[in-house]
Amino acid sequence: MLILQDLAKTYRTRAGEVKALDGVSLRIDQGEFIAVCGPSGSGKTTLLMMIAAMLRPSRGTVQFEDRDLYQMTGAARAKFRARNIGFVFQMFHLVPYLNVLENVLLAGAVARSGDGRARAEESLQRLGLGHRIGHRPSELSAGEKQRTAIARALLNRPKLILADEPTGNLDSQNAEGVLRHLQSFQRDGGTIIMATHGLAAQGFATRTIDLREGRLA
Ligand SMILES: Nc1ncnc2c1ncn2[C@@H]1O[C@H](COP(=O)(O)OP(=O)(O)OP(=O)(O)O)[C@@H](O)[C@H]1O
Ligand SMILES: [Mg+2]
Repeated sequence: MLILQDLAKTYRTRAGEVKALDGVSLRIDQGEFIAVCGPSGSGKTTLLMMIAAMLRPSRGTVQFEDRDLYQMTGAARAKFRARNIGFVFQMFHLVPYLNVLENVLLAGAVARSGDGRARAEESLQRLGLGHRIGHRPSELSAGEKQRTAIARALLNRPKLILADEPTGNLDSQNAEGVLRHLQSFQRDGGTIIMATHGLAAQGFATRTIDLREGRLA
């Protein structure tokens, strides 16, 4: 499903160059649940953003099925991303002035799927948030916020979910709930790439990848 070839990223800052990723090659099959591990600063988020079609590599290619992500025009890449890829970020990225249902429907607005509302409500029910759809993020627990973020990531029925430390600030019970929802997406044929420090999270993965200073260890 994904072929990464010699991926590298060098950030240029006023203080000099930072080699965040330095020659990563990987093949990922449909249905894998990959945990990307490694110390802080090892390049996990950088790798996820490049796979997500959001960050152009300094070198190398990302092939998603038969498409080379960074050969497309910006507009084509944005469309491809909205149709195929869902994200779950560590800090939730919920819009504070929209309620739970409206936050989930944001994803639908991007990809213009017709039956969005019914699917959003159904998905929120399944994630145990049926009684919270009218609440604002500030009125939710951390676990509820993260499950809202998962419902949003799932709304367009993506093939791939990228999750950047999705359980990073959850207690173990909420973390397990989130991981079980990701696992059920995988069992339905979805593919997941998750950056994580947690051992519990690694337990859900079918393969673990270790990054050290921008390289596969
Ligand atoms: N926008 C940026 N500009 C400059 N340097 C950056 C930028 N983003 C990341 N870096 C640097 O690139 C390296 C890799 O960062 P990255 O965020 O990919 O690490 P990470 O493995 O996700 O870390 P963490 O576990 O702390 O989230 C780090 O040294 C970081 O300081
Ligand atoms: Mg990170």
